[in-house]
Amino acid sequence: MRELRGKTAFITGGASGIGLAMAEAFGREGMNVMLADIEATALAAAVDHLRGKQIRAEGVLANVSHSDALRSAALECIAKFGKVHLVANNAGVAAGGQIGTISERDWDWVIDVNLKGVVHGMEIFAPLIASHGEGGHFVNTASMAGMVSPPGMEPYCATKFAVVAMSEGWAVQLAEKDIGVSILCPGFVRTRIHESRRNRPQDYGPDAGSGGEEVAGIASEAVLGGIPVAPVANRVVEAVKANELYIFTHPEFKAFVEARFQRILAGFDASAASPALAVLAQRDAPSGLLP
Ligand SMILES: NC(=O)c1ccc[n+]([C@@H]2O[C@H](COP(=O)([O-])OP(=O)(O)OC[C@H]3O[C@@H](n4cnc5c(N)ncnc54)[C@H](O)[C@@H]3O)[C@@H](O)[C@H]2O)c1
Repeated sequence: MRELRGKTAFITGGASGIGLAMAEAFGREGMNVMLADIEATALAAAVDHLRGKQIRAEGVLANVSHSDALRSAALECIAKFGKVHLVANNAGVAAGGQIGTISERDWDWVIDVNLKGVVHGMEIFAPLIASHGEGGHFVNTASMAGMVSPPGMEPYCATKFAVVAMSEGWAVQLAEKDIGVSILCPGFVRTRIHESRRNRPQDYGPDAGSGGEEVAGIASEAVLGGIPVAPVANRVVEAVKANELYIFTHPEFKAFVEARFQRILAGFDASAASPALAVLAQRDAPSGLLP
């Protein structure tokens, strides 16, 4: 999407952090913005904040884990602004900890928001964007935790790797409809992600504070020492205009990705030298599997 002015962005998790910063950055480009969030008070404050900056902003309460709620929010956006062009599937929560300390309901919560929330956003909005024929763009917020997996972050990493994987496929599927897909992979950013449990719905049962205080403490320190949100949002605007697939905000983390890929490639080298596999005939990689 080269031209953003006059178009409409729908941003989940838009009441705080990276979502709110993206709303402000897209608003500054002349877009209308619809914020969707689970937290009513923060949502109202965020809409006021944007309007104070002369941005055409509206808010809608929605839990991205519930596809019906997100569909209603999408229809409300269209009722307010006519069309939607850009969707940031950004709402996310974090939980982690030592093996044996994370409750099954916490796994469910993280998967329902971070993974299924993005699936719902894509399934609901892709046909709505395609229907007006003006093209569009998805920004799916993954994380550096979708590229590398530090121990103690398994639920979070599982969902963020999934967002990366799904978005790579969707980018190819939607290109022919003139809909771009970008995968936002920030390192630590100063937001309220370390306080995610404030939005853990009661449907998941009593909050036993999975993961332990030590893990929570490390996470808070890293997030509070992270980069500010505004440059992240400005980078997203650049990347949307240039239709970039991967959006990184911490170039210094490249070495971690390189190291992971070196370990993966070493696994292939070991299998190429394996006596167990040497009995098999030489094979070529299947064609047409990847673009
Ligand atoms: N802050 C970081 O260091 C960092 C790094 C990489 C990726 N991310 C990702 O960035 C995204 C935004 O998080 P943030 O860092 O701005 O944190 P944040 O807590 O400041 O903002 C997250 C927003 O999502 C909303 N939310 C939570 N559950 C929801 C639900 N079920 N439905 C709708 N809204 C919901 C919250 O109310 C909040 O407004 C997340 O996907 C997060 O995983 C953050």
